[in-house]
Amino acid sequence: MWQIIGAGAIGCLWAANLKRTGQDVHLVSRSVLLSDTLHYQDLQQQDHQFTMSSGTTLINSTDPVLVCVKATQVKQAIQKQLKMIGPQQVIILMHNGMGCAEQIQKLLPNNPIICATTANASLLHAPLEIQQTGLGITYLGPFNKQAKLHKDLVRPLNLALANTHWADDIKQKLWLKLLINIAINPLTAIYQIKNGLLQQSAFEPKIAAITTEALQVAQAEDIHFEESELLNIIRQVIDATAENYSSMNRDIYFQRSTENEYIGGYLLKKASRHNIEIPSIKSLYQQIKLLEKQKL
Ligand code: PAF
Repeated sequence: MWQIIGAGAIGCLWAANLKRTGQDVHLVSRSVLLSDTLHYQDLQQQDHQFTMSSGTTLINSTDPVLVCVKATQVKQAIQKQLKMIGPQQVIILMHNGMGCAEQIQKLLPNNPIICATTANASLLHAPLEIQQTGLGITYLGPFNKQAKLHKDLVRPLNLALANTHWADDIKQKLWLKLLINIAINPLTAIYQIKNGLLQQSAFEPKIAAITTEALQVAQAEDIHFEESELLNIIRQVIDATAENYSSMNRDIYFQRSTENEYIGGYLLKKASRHNIEIPSIKSLYQQIKLLEKQKL
């Protein structure tokens, strides 16, 4: 059985596709869900319905736990389930941004911790009602040495959502996502624009400066990308998601807290450790912080 913490767009997307492929799922949400039916519209606009087991706590201390809440909620979500989590239980963290695995390792020093990043996209229209909006690659990889023994978990997940792979170099994959997120998310949130508007030439020098700074931090952390290649990847993501609003854009729009601390904030912490100045990223970070405060 799979236990999924987080009944948002990504948690429900995995829940639906695990159920679709005959796998057992228990969904853990912050508050009690009023229905036990998960409505799922796939990319071919086919509607599916699944009867779900759900609740506000995990139901066993052995089966793997897939954590699909935002970076800002991961620590709290695990703290809430701490008594239920067994010492060997695998924890898989799937979210934007970096820095959560370190927090969870402190709470659960002996558990296998797997980090994951997915480019699958879905929209949550209402509780337990989702629509898949994009197909993409998912990578899982070990955060600690205990996790290296659990490579096999990728097989049932790949059955549910194709293009799910094990990556021994997960750190590189997470950094790539972070470098994409820092180039797209704060700008689209500050200017309240769709990703596609970043194609305008006015944003080119801004994206270039952000990327140069972020790459300096990555290099100091022994993560290497070729700058022109990275800029190409960022451009491709902007083109592929032109009609989408980034997650940070939506968070600011709906006056929710953002993943700023785990994207810009993470880069700033690492930069300060290596005595690197990253003024463009610092400015984006401060602007987002200000926008978050304005909601109060
Ligand atoms: O956070 C997001 O919205 C996405 O990770 C991305 C790739 C920036 C596309 O909008």
